[in-house]
Amino acid sequence: MRKIEICLTPDLLFLHSLEGKIVVVVDILRATSCMVTAFAHKVEKIIPVATVEECKQLQQQGLIAAAERGGEKVEGFDIGNSPFSYTENSYAGHTIAMTTTNGTQAIVASQKAETIVIGAFLNINTVAQYLVSKDNDVVVVCAGWQGNINMEDTLFAGALAQILVGTHTWENDACYLATTAHEVAKNDYMLYLKECSHFKRLMRFGLEQDVRFCLKHDVYDVLPYMKEGYLTIKKP
Ligand code: MLT
Repeated sequence: MRKIEICLTPDLLFLHSLEGKIVVVVDILRATSCMVTAFAHKVEKIIPVATVEECKQLQQQGLIAAAERGGEKVEGFDIGNSPFSYTENSYAGHTIAMTTTNGTQAIVASQKAETIVIGAFLNINTVAQYLVSKDNDVVVVCAGWQGNINMEDTLFAGALAQILVGTHTWENDACYLATTAHEVAKNDYMLYLKECSHFKRLMRFGLEQDVRFCLKHDVYDVLPYMKEGYLTIKKP
């Protein structure tokens, strides 16, 4: 049996060895949901960067630049971090430079992994099928919020661990925590998340449709992965 571990916030990555493993980075609200949606709508590449300054430099080199901080679009950039920015195929064929509060940081922090793939509820079974097809152990890295855990990423991790229960042993207590939480929440994520911090923040911003969309399962079957500093879905 292969192994799955869950890292509930990138601030706990020091507890995990990533060498030789597949890391699934998840930021349900909304970075990885956006990335999956972008590739499903024909974006060519996404360059995830940790800082607004790096994103600005790439914009000045002519790339479309998406920047979000605190749930809001950063002034002076082309797009924020709503999946609906991509659903009209508005950026088909483009390379997007992207920085978000937590999601792109989690990708940058996971570079020691053998492979980094992007997970969301939107492509959860595509992620699971890929992991079952590989011999590597798995670490799910939840983006959380500025070092804190968040519920939505934890629920994804629990849902994924549950799907993999027949092929991957649950290696740390976070697996049991996350799967238990998902068992309670699975029939009504909106109800279960309604007191959670980033859910409430996005609802305050009037982004209920973003939230509802990011909580849907298996809308897309794309699997973004990191290749030499950028995300793509093109087969290696
Ligand atoms: C994040 O990085 O935590 C999210 O992208 C924040 C958001 O989009 O609201």
